[in-house]
Amino acid sequence: MAADGHGLLDGKTGLIFGAMDERSLAWSIAEAADREGAEMALSNAPVARRLGSMDELAEQTGSPALWADATSDDDLEELFDDVQSELGGGLDFIVHAIGMGVNVRKDTSYEELDYNWYQQTLDISATSLHRIVRHGLESGAINDGASIIALSYIGAQRIFSKYSEMGDAKALLESIVRSFGYRLGERGIRINAISQSPTRTLAGSGIEGFDAMYQFANRAAPLGNADQASCADYAMTLLSDYTRMVTMQTLYHDGGFSSMGMSDEIIQDLTSAYAEAEEE
Ligand SMILES: NC(=O)c1ccc[n+]([C@@H]2O[C@H](COP(=O)([O-])OP(=O)(O)OC[C@H]3O[C@@H](n4cnc5c(N)ncnc54)[C@H](O)[C@@H]3O)[C@@H](O)[C@H]2O)c1
Repeated sequence: MAADGHGLLDGKTGLIFGAMDERSLAWSIAEAADREGAEMALSNAPVARRLGSMDELAEQTGSPALWADATSDDDLEELFDDVQSELGGGLDFIVHAIGMGVNVRKDTSYEELDYNWYQQTLDISATSLHRIVRHGLESGAINDGASIIALSYIGAQRIFSKYSEMGDAKALLESIVRSFGYRLGERGIRINAISQSPTRTLAGSGIEGFDAMYQFANRAAPLGNADQASCADYAMTLLSDYTRMVTMQTLYHDGGFSSMGMSDEIIQDLTSAYAEAEEE
């Protein structure tokens, strides 16, 4: 873990969405951005003000806390106006760390999705990225050469049964990353998704079977699961100028999990579990 900053974001100004509490990926990313010399604003849904502790993070990093529902065009319009007046200029980076599976939360199976909730899931977890980039551009708040990142999960490419509708949401999110990446290129603006290991956060713990997904990935990945702090360090590289030619990518930050099939550890676990099952 990088204890001291390296000035990777010196002189940069950003906007970070999604810090609910100190377990949040956005929380660690904001702390790392602060360490690397960035000025920033923090944003979250109005309801998170009551449920979470982003105000503390805002105080700790000396950042304004701006409350906006990322599914509301009106809220986002206002947000981008406020951001520019609070920070006194445009943005060099945006972090989208927003997600929620409504059917997943309410334990509705994929076969029996409630389509209103499904629409909300897609709106919160994927379309919100489109809305944020759109309003950022329309308000003139995004600087040339800016870097935008969103947080994704390998459930966009492969089936993790309990991830259910969120797999669809992440597939859409990653597609929006590519579609906007093409259109933003002429201004040197890049946009990428970090596909992160299972991480113990509020959103993570809302998924049934999360512990099994966490343990499985941890046992398969040669480096083990990537935690919040390492995700934040990786994010710093993507927000810095060192990655200025990287865009439209889904970048796996998962300790190697995405390249694995079976590991010795999992073979041992399953061999004993299957042997026990046969004895019964
Ligand atoms: N935790 C994991 O295992 C994991 C793995 C890969 C990717 N991710 C992704 O990382 C991102 C951040 O999630 P996290 O794990 O840090 O959990 P988290 O619960 O801390 O963060 C999710 C955030 O989304 C915000 N949000 C929900 N609805 C919103 C709305 N309408 N408007 C604005 N904000 C809204 C919440 O308030 C919360 O701050 C999500 O996109 C998540 O899918 C998480």
